[in-house]
Amino acid sequence: MRVFVSRKIPEPGLEILKKHFDVDVYEGDSPISRKELLVRAKGCDGILPLLTDKIDSEIMDITGIKAIANYAVGYDNVDVQAATERKIPLTNTPGVLTDATADLTFALILAISRRIVESDKYLRAGKWKGWDPMLLLGGDFVNRTIGIIGMGRIGKAVARRAKGFGMNIIYVDHEQQSDIEKEVDAKKVTFSECLQNSDYLTLHIPHTSETHQLIGIKELKQMKPSAYLINTSRGKVINEEELITALAKRIIAGAGLDVFFDEPEINPELVKLDNVVIVPHIGSASLETRTNMAIIAAENLVEALTGKKPKNIVNPEIYYK
Ligand code: DGY
Repeated sequence: MRVFVSRKIPEPGLEILKKHFDVDVYEGDSPISRKELLVRAKGCDGILPLLTDKIDSEIMDITGIKAIANYAVGYDNVDVQAATERKIPLTNTPGVLTDATADLTFALILAISRRIVESDKYLRAGKWKGWDPMLLLGGDFVNRTIGIIGMGRIGKAVARRAKGFGMNIIYVDHEQQSDIEKEVDAKKVTFSECLQNSDYLTLHIPHTSETHQLIGIKELKQMKPSAYLINTSRGKVINEEELITALAKRIIAGAGLDVFFDEPEINPELVKLDNVVIVPHIGSASLETRTNMAIIAAENLVEALTGKKPKNIVNPEIYYK
């Protein structure tokens, strides 16, 4: 059997694949074009794509792939319904990137609130004249409230870190999450209560039709003017134009963003703002995490193509009789 890997991933994942399949890896240094993806994946049994590759019905039909092992926990780049209709197993990489993503969430919270990037630029620009009681003052964490939208694996890992910082924790989720409530004294609140009471509002939700542009100007206006918005989930859960307006008009104090509406395009107006910290979708970018993601994605593909139901199946209904 042949499989196509749409970008160079850590070697341990490739080694697993090579034990079972003929493996073709795209070696380019930017995401593969759709045209090349179609050509290279055509006739392959399985594909290991990245979140930058749109895997829709056309790709499925032209290539004839029989399994998709996405190299990410999120899978909004894949048309799940089309895969399910074609009985193509789709897998993702949950669990292994939880802590790395929660760490980056906290890095953004600290960076924007304590003005780390601004301070670094200030110092490098030779502007520092000496210690100053009023220089680069930022926000506090202890006794401040963090609002977590989406109390799944990553939301809970963020809550544990927030507890360590002495923060009050509120959250929004479809389900009551009693485990984390007990563990860190988190309180489930309504969406509006979360917007209104959070000093730090952080998003940990997948991008779906329900969450598309969940946060826009209407929601931002409900937040405290001193509050910060953090997003390490997907860019499309925010109306980015409206966030830029809110940041420019100081409707909220600032934002820390790892993900963007139209990645890798960055709205030039966002870059001009000094009350936002922006990083290039590096939530899971620790060596160990990316290696574990490669191993899990590869194992998923092996299972899917050798007649087993993969551990991390996204569309298990394809196995129902
Ligand atoms: C994911 O896995 O969905 C992240 O966005 C990248 O690791």
